[in-house]
Amino acid sequence: MPRSEPIKAVRGVRDLLPRDRPLWRAAELAAEDVARRFGYEEIVTPLIEHAELIERVGEDTDAVAKELYRFEDRGGRKLALRPEATAGVVRAYFEGHLNQEPQPARLYLIGPMFRYNRPQKGRYRQFFQLDVEAIGSASPALDAEVIEIAVTWLHDLGLGEVRMDLNTIGDAKCRPAYLELLRAYYRPLRDKLHGDCQRRLETNPLLLLDCKVPQCQPFKADAPRITDHLCEECAAAWAAVRRLLDAAGIEYHLDPYLVRGLDYYTRTVFEIYPAQTGGSQDALAGGGRYDGLAEAEGWPATPGVGFASGLDRVTEMVKAVGVEIIAAPAAEVLVLPDAELEIAAAEVAHICRAVRSVAVDYEAKSLKAKMRSANKLGARWVVLLNAEDAQQRTVQLKEMASGDQVAVPWDDLPARLA
Ligand code: HAM
Repeated sequence: MPRSEPIKAVRGVRDLLPRDRPLWRAAELAAEDVARRFGYEEIVTPLIEHAELIERVGEDTDAVAKELYRFEDRGGRKLALRPEATAGVVRAYFEGHLNQEPQPARLYLIGPMFRYNRPQKGRYRQFFQLDVEAIGSASPALDAEVIEIAVTWLHDLGLGEVRMDLNTIGDAKCRPAYLELLRAYYRPLRDKLHGDCQRRLETNPLLLLDCKVPQCQPFKADAPRITDHLCEECAAAWAAVRRLLDAAGIEYHLDPYLVRGLDYYTRTVFEIYPAQTGGSQDALAGGGRYDGLAEAEGWPATPGVGFASGLDRVTEMVKAVGVEIIAAPAAEVLVLPDAELEIAAAEVAHICRAVRSVAVDYEAKSLKAKMRSANKLGARWVVLLNAEDAQQRTVQLKEMASGDQVAVPWDDLPARLA
């Protein structure tokens, strides 16, 4: 009897197994390719940050208030596992003096994020994002540029059928007055809202528009819309973004209720969904402009815009629409030595590795069983090695597809396999 149950993975996190990786790798390569085509450079930031960095930029959002993995290290520092990348990338932009280089800094990052939410399909506690940021420019052309990157990436992966929701939420100049209008509209309805919304009414009323709870829905239609209350600059930027998207042939759906879950946004916000769904839980990507974020982190005021897309959801959707990813075999050549020929087999493998990926089957089993494994593994060749051939420094090289088998001296193997 085992002494205890085997220890399983932590709830809400998962392994990406070798069988999953070809699809993930294809998604990562497509991301790297599109980022490069748009002139974006890779950045890697730590998985842990000061909790304050995250908390300062999003006090009232779920990703921060309820979902943050927060802990104290042995030195008593209050740290957090990053729930998203933007706050850390903006910090790194200043600490790494990217603000002194030509602007904007065009950056991308691929890596894990952590949110303590209720796990379900497409929602995990550790998930991966492609994060793209253009920092140091307020030009609406960059809003359109990052949107084009998101759409192009999904398109390159065979996900052309998506819906993009687009909105603006104004800035520090026009939003406060609009929020007062929103509060004034919702205050008489307070008792009819669900608990979180009652609280948000005073702290962050914009989130009321984003609420998905049924009891709060009837009041949205008559709520004042920010697009009717933009300052001149925000209105001009909003018109420019739409003009640029039109010119680039990128379709969008104007959604006056789209506000996004994180506090730091200004002006443009957008989310991308699979075309078929009207859901809110299954966004493939989301982002927007965050001109107040740098200042909220304590750095000089600096505009920025970007988006992040969840690789878990994107790869699940690529699988669902049936895009075929052809996986290379783990090893193209499999060496099958007879018993006690490990040293010779290792030398043969070493020679073949000059030109091909090679594995050796060291298991003590019949040749028939070894050939079955070679087939399953998808090897293109097997190298049969018996004691007599080893003495002569030759092998039998068998091509799996044709079944052709020839004797080959060890030193000729690279030429035969090239
Ligand atoms: P976000 O909307 O919180 O934005 O997340 C972006 C994407 O990450 C979502 O659309 C979704 O695909 C994926 N995602 C989020 N949470 C989970 C989860 N629990 N499990 C699986 N996938 C998930 C941000 O994170 C912003 N930092 C985006 C941004 C960058 N804005 C400006 N720059």
